[in-house]
Parts: sequence; structure tokens; C-alpha cells
Amino acid sequence: MVERCQKYPFVNQGGIMKAPFIVIDGMDGSGKGTQIGLLAARMGDEGRNFILTREPGGTPLSEKIRDIFSSPEGADASARTQYLMMWAARSHWMEKVVIPYLSAGTLIVSDRGDSSTIAYQVYAKMAPELEDNFWRMRKFIFGEYTPTRYIILDIPAEEAKRRIDADTSRVKSPFDMKPLEWYERVREGFQTLHEELPHHVTIINGARTPEMIHEEIYRIVKGQCGWM
Ligand code: TMP
Repeated sequence: MVERCQKYPFVNQGGIMKAPFIVIDGMDGSGKGTQIGLLAARMGDEGRNFILTREPGGTPLSEKIRDIFSSPEGADASARTQYLMMWAARSHWMEKVVIPYLSAGTLIVSDRGDSSTIAYQVYAKMAPELEDNFWRMRKFIFGEYTPTRYIILDIPAEEAKRRIDADTSRVKSPFDMKPLEWYERVREGFQTLHEELPHHVTIINGARTPEMIHEEIYRIVKGQCGWM
């Protein structure tokens, strides 16, 4: 899956030519995993060329950072420490995956991105002192390669928590055992990103059938890539 997004392969952003870079995000319980699976399967069936990656992770080193972040010690770390871990993982991922593939004209779809950093570390963990730094760090790490589109699955906090609590098949991580206010703050973080980047962030209603949500996501991706 390492080729080109065919018909209109490049996005001209900031004077350089590159492929679309799409982040799909949403709070835990929003149905993000289901939607990414549906999207990848459809693009695969249609023979589209893309890279599916994730954050934190996507490279062997960044996956190791993910493991540390997901450990009890990582979950216990301060907002600032987690924040720096996320940017370290992201920096390596940008160097090794995102920039090379975008430059070669390959569509990138990422399961989460810096949208989760503002939602979780800055908002959910209540670290407003990191917010200015967040915008500076974005410039520093992304440079000209900022995501072209964020698709955020939005559901009410109560519904997200209800889904997580009711899902007995899910192995509960430390991130799943959070009070309702946590989910509310995550949602607020995503909304802030939308307010700051209104032309790049699309918030979609995740409280519908998976098929309806999938069709909307697919339409957005198709539009970004110029697929017929
Ligand atoms: P996932 O299981 O959906 O891949 O997400 C793993 C957890 O990592 C999820 O609870 C959100 C969290 N996370 C952050 O806290 N900050 C970040 O920057 C990213 C990318 C994820």
C-alpha cells in the first residue's frame, strides 16, 4: 500500500506539493476503531493506495514509547511528561513515516494524532499551561507537513462512558477507567482544536449507525483525495 493517491495526487500547502494527511480521532468509546476498520477495508477493496498508521506508534521506536505510555507508570505520569512523550513519539514518526510518504505522494490515514494531545494531555489532564506550547510544538514538529484534515468522531460524554463500561469484550486499560468529567474534558479539547483550525477540522456526529458514519467519513476522504 505504498503508492500514490491517483487522480489528484498532491495537495499544495505552504508552497510544497504533497499527498493528503488525514487524522481520524475521537474519544475512547466513540467508535473510531470500527470506522478506521471500515474505511481501510473499503479503500483496500477499491485498490486505493494509502498508508494506515497510528499514534502514538507507527514506527518501532514510537511503538515502544506507546508501550511505556500505556504502562501503569506512563498512565500515572504528569500531563507534561506524557505530553513530551507524545511529541517525542510523533517527531520520530514524522521523520520516518509521514514526511517520506507524503513527499512521495502517498495518502496517510492516521488513527489519532496531535488532536489527541490537546484533548487528553492539555484538556483532560487539565494542563492549560501547555496550550501555548502545543501550538508552537505543532509548528516545530510538523513544519510544512501539518495534517490536511482531522475527522473527529463526536459523541456525548455519557454515551462514550456508557459504551466503554458496557463493553465486556474490551480489555480495560488505565485510560478506560475514568470519570464522566474526563470524557467531557476530552470532548472540549477536540472542540478547541476545531475552533482554532476551523478549515482543517471536521467534527462528525458519532451517535448514528456505523454505516451512516462510514459514508460521511468516506465522502470526506474521497473529497480530500479527489477520487471520482
Ligand atoms: P487508542 O487505543 O485509541 O490507540 O489510544 C490510546 C490512548 O492514548 C487513548 O486513551 C488516547 C491516548 N493518547 C493521548 O493521551 N495522547 C495522544 O497524543 C495520543 C495520540 C493518544
